Amino acid sequence: MAKGKTTVYFCQSCGYESTKWMGQCPGCKEWNTFVEEIIDRKSSSGKLTDRGTAPKAVALNQVVLSREERVLTGLSEFDRVLGGGIVPGSLVLVGGDPGIGKSTLLLQICQILSNMNKKTLYISGEESLQQIKLRADRIGSFTNELNLLCETNLTDIKTVIQQEKPQMIVIDSIQTMYSEDISSAPGSVSQVREATSAFMQIAKGMGITIFIVGHVTKEGVVAGPRVLEHMVDTVLYFEGDRHASYRILRGVKNRFGSTNEIGVFEMCNTGLRQVENPSEYMLNGKPEGASGSIVACLIEGTRPILLEVQALVCRSNFGIPRRTAAGADLNRVNLLMAVLEKRNNMPLSGCDAYINIAGGIRMTEPAVDLAMVLALVSCYKDIAIPEKTICFGEVGLSGEVRAVSMAQQRVAEAKKLGFTTCILPKVNVSSIDKVEGIRLIGVADVGDAIRAIL
Ligand code: TYD
Ligand code: MG
Repeated sequence: MAKGKTTVYFCQSCGYESTKWMGQCPGCKEWNTFVEEIIDRKSSSGKLTDRGTAPKAVALNQVVLSREERVLTGLSEFDRVLGGGIVPGSLVLVGGDPGIGKSTLLLQICQILSNMNKKTLYISGEESLQQIKLRADRIGSFTNELNLLCETNLTDIKTVIQQEKPQMIVIDSIQTMYSEDISSAPGSVSQVREATSAFMQIAKGMGITIFIVGHVTKEGVVAGPRVLEHMVDTVLYFEGDRHASYRILRGVKNRFGSTNEIGVFEMCNTGLRQVENPSEYMLNGKPEGASGSIVACLIEGTRPILLEVQALVCRSNFGIPRRTAAGADLNRVNLLMAVLEKRNNMPLSGCDAYINIAGGIRMTEPAVDLAMVLALVSCYKDIAIPEKTICFGEVGLSGEVRAVSMAQQRVAEAKKLGFTTCILPKVNVSSIDKVEGIRLIGVADVGDAIRAIL
């Protein structure tokens, strides 16, 4: 490897390293993500050879398992996403768009943990002490166990951590941290990597839980947290429509639990509040007796969520019909409309169609197919679907309704929220125990489903 200063190009999205600039990254196939960085190979590789003691291999049978004691925050939506509480000594990355509420969420976690008499340290490289205090005042009262530090220099931060010995640390954000050993600017791929590996050593070496905030930007000026995903134990994404008040915390990687769990929060004027019953929340404001609307039951992680699917179909005034899908896959909508046209004699090719999953959640699960089909037909025929009806099922190209997983949980959730009729794939009916108070209508194809309720 060349010694001294060399120029390399990094992909901002996946961290791919190249000696030449390229338009498209061979690693992640993104365009225009390469940026130039100057790296001092000597200083970064020198450290590795300086070690005095050689490591020793250990026999697998001699490894003693210590029961990991998870810390429950009491914020159950948060604990669930982490797989049942915080694992001490773990490194957790919280990514998300600017302004979504990452700092607020982590300050609230600090509040909870410091109230449990755990020493916490909130390190901010973005905001002043006064700004953090202002936010903290909105959230509530804090104990003396929470300390703040406004610093971006890694060496200084390490010194403070060694003096204070906290049990939990928040780094807000990783893009502002820098090491003097590296010449490139804070936020560049090499700085972000260096800072993350430094925090990883602190987390593992001292058994401190570290939460790292990472920004995601489209422009690629700041290194996206994607490059750190493989270095940390757990990756959480905080997402949501900025105009809607609810936020979703999604686990995408977890070394200590299952992924794809979600936690639902609502941003109010005293910080984030957890939404323990998202179905109820999502169904708020559902119109009564209107055509083109039906409730679908979908699974997020291990949790069923009820969502309203709306469709609007009208005759197209132009040659090419206009179709949009908010919260659903547009290709899927086009496909389902083609199925209705071909298999159920509905001339939809001359119709504009708009699909909306109310609440703004993005759903890609195929089980939403049947709901989209029924909403489209209901609007096209202008007949309202009976109240208290829900449906779920995947629709195939010949119009058949195919089985979906976790049917029992979906039916149970519908029952819990007072639904009385459930349209579901025929194949699923036999596998479900009878649920009192809800009528199950098994359908083999789209035609069956339409005849059943319209
Ligand atoms: P913030 O946590 O600063 O976002 P991030 O760290 O992800 O950039 O929060 C951003 C928004 O949250 C901000 O626009 C104000 C809003 N907010 C509330 O609505 N209520 C509150 O109690 C707090 C603290 C913030
Ligand atoms: Mg912030």
